[in-house]
Amino acid sequence: VRRLEVRLSAVGPDRSYSIVIDAAPGAEERLAAEVAPRAAGGLGLLTDETVARLHGPRVEQALRARGLDPARVTVPDGEGSKSLRTVETVAEALAQRGLDRRAALLALGGGVVGDLGGFVASVFLRGVTVIQAPTTLLAQVDASVGGKTGVNLPSGKNLVGTFHQPALVYADVTALATLSPRDLASGLAEVVKHGAIASAELFELLERRAEAARAGDPELLEELVERSCAIKAAVVAADERETGAGGRERLNFGHTVGHALETASLAAAPLRHGEAVALGMLAAARVGARLGLGDATLEARLAPLLGRLGLPVDLDAHLSPAVLARVGVDKKRAGGRVSFVLVDRIGSSLVTPLAPAELEQILLAGKNRC
Ligand SMILES: NC(=O)c1ccc[n+]([C@@H]2O[C@H](COP(=O)([O-])OP(=O)(O)OC[C@H]3O[C@@H](n4cnc5c(N)ncnc54)[C@H](O)[C@@H]3O)[C@@H](O)[C@H]2O)c1
Ligand SMILES: [Zn+2]
Repeated sequence: VRRLEVRLSAVGPDRSYSIVIDAAPGAEERLAAEVAPRAAGGLGLLTDETVARLHGPRVEQALRARGLDPARVTVPDGEGSKSLRTVETVAEALAQRGLDRRAALLALGGGVVGDLGGFVASVFLRGVTVIQAPTTLLAQVDASVGGKTGVNLPSGKNLVGTFHQPALVYADVTALATLSPRDLASGLAEVVKHGAIASAELFELLERRAEAARAGDPELLEELVERSCAIKAAVVAADERETGAGGRERLNFGHTVGHALETASLAAAPLRHGEAVALGMLAAARVGARLGLGDATLEARLAPLLGRLGLPVDLDAHLSPAVLARVGVDKKRAGGRVSFVLVDRIGSSLVTPLAPAELEQILLAGKNRC
């Protein structure tokens, strides 16, 4: 069991918190011991159907053993649950169970449950504690840390949201054993992202051990979670609210085009978040090379790695004017330009303003050449 600290040093009360990475059997009991003192006003337990089935019983049992009687709310799996409609359902269920302002909400699940739970906790009774218990690799390496919460609108992803830092992040790495290969790969995409923007060492570790990562080697996954959380915690501590100067924007590497691809895919053949990010990183590599600001060899190194990890690499097949038109509605848009993240060499990144039209021109030109 290892503990990392996210140090938030803004004015006001100290909101720093721990990330616990627990790879030993019986993690649910240690989680319950951490939850109990934080849930004086009752406990909500938010999860989705798959997680409820696979991991709900052992977690609930451990919570009961600590004298807690959680109000469980189970939402359907998938991105569709990140909606304002679901926010009302969850909040109403918590209200019916009489939770008060000293209550906590335990978000047990992937990034969908984490983003939804964080958002509900930030607005329910004007804000209650949220504890993140991520169960997907993606949520353990990325979504559960940093306090970004939100739900989607028909116009795009995460267009309604808040910053609401968790009181604790508890990552039970053993829970990843039940993850589907597709969801495991999706999480690995965000690990690649962390390596590409901030750690050549992490990127090279993935290059050396891609097959073991894809197969879900438990010790390797533990190391990837730890390294990723350390990177994300440091970036978030330096720039909690993504004001630009502190560098949090760099975590959006691959996400400008990635979000557009993800939203466009929802109607027909939904891409996993990490799959869309994998394609988005390839797009960003191409844009960086063309602008002369990014590492010119990045796409050639990124594509084989993503492929070995089980992620899509057929960028051109996914790009279309309709997809790229969505880039303009991304919420990070400012003054008609988007803040575009480039990797200048592996392990180092920068942000540059880019007009959506320029982005479209570069990416669709690449497509026509092929
Ligand atoms: N807040 C942030 O900073 C942040 C960062 C990255 C991504 N996100 C968001 O995270 C979401 C994606 O998260 P995700 O990939 O975890 O998706 P998800 O939450 O939909 O989980 C994927 C699938 O895995 C299942 N699952 C969860 N844990 C499991 C387990 N241990 N065993 C078996 N199955 C399990 C879920 O039921 C679901 O069907 C997106 O909405 C994205 O926008 C947020
Ligand atoms: Zn992401």
